Order: sequence, then structure tokens, then C-alpha cells
Amino acid sequence: MKKIIIGALILSTAVFAIQSEDQYKHCVVCHGKQGELVAIKSSPKLSSLSEEELSMRLKKILDGSTSLSKNYVGMHRTKLKNLAPEDTEKFAKYIVELKK
Ligand code: HEC
Repeated sequence: MKKIIIGALILSTAVFAIQSEDQYKHCVVCHGKQGELVAIKSSPKLSSLSEEELSMRLKKILDGSTSLSKNYVGMHRTKLKNLAPEDTEKFAKYIVELKK
């Protein structure tokens, strides 16, 4: 039983990594392969944010309470449409770890 649970956990982590990779593909052009770029001279470097900070900012984009300028909110929400609010922590962790 224990083995099955551990196996399922490893599998779900692996699946999530693939989803994150897929998700982040939509961000690379502006934020850089490792989140190292200042997009359009105005974004924070995603990789310089803490996991918690990035996760919070992603959540705010999803729920609309973000301070991001209006022009960019819609675009980000379209690109993040497959990200569930409960997965923002894992996605933030994925992005922050890209630079390692
Ligand atoms: C077309 C370029 C572009 C793409 C593609 C893009 N971003 Fe951004 N992003 C920006 C810009 C520009 C800003 C800063 C906007 C501003 O200053 O209001 C920004 C800001 C952010 C912020 C900071 C929000 C805040 O509250 O400070 C986060 C987090 C973010 N982007 C994540 C992402 C993620 C994740 C993706 C991919 C799903 C993505 N972006 C795709 C250009 C882009």
C-alpha cells in the first residue's frame, strides 16, 4: 500500500512538472528561459522573486486583484487559463527553480 501511495505521489509530481513546463513556454518570450528578463522594461525578474511572492502575484492575476497594468492583466490571464488557483504555489516553485 505504502509503495502505491509513494508511486502515485512521484507520478503526480512528474506530471505537474510537465504541465508547468508547458505552461511556462507561454512566458519565455518575455520573461526569459529562466525568468531572468525584465519584460518590456517593466516587469520584475520572476526569478528574483521569492516563491511565496511569485505565487501571491500569480494568484492575484488569476483573481483579478493584481496591481498589474490593465493592458497586461487580460493577456496574462489568457496565458494562465490552465493554471488552477491551488496550483500557483507549485508553478511558482517551478519558475523560481529554473535558474538553478
Ligand atoms: C508579452 C510579454 C509577456 C508574456 C508573454 C508574459 N508576461 Fe508576465 N509580464 C509582462 C510585463 C510587461 C509585466 C509587467 C507589467 C506591468 O508593469 O504592469 C509582467 C508581469 C508579470 C508578473 C508580475 C505581476 C506583479 O504583480 O508584479 C508576473 C508574476 C508575470 N508577469 C508572470 C507571467 C507568466 C507566468 C507568464 C506566462 C504564463 C507571463 N507572465 C507571460 C510581460 C509578459
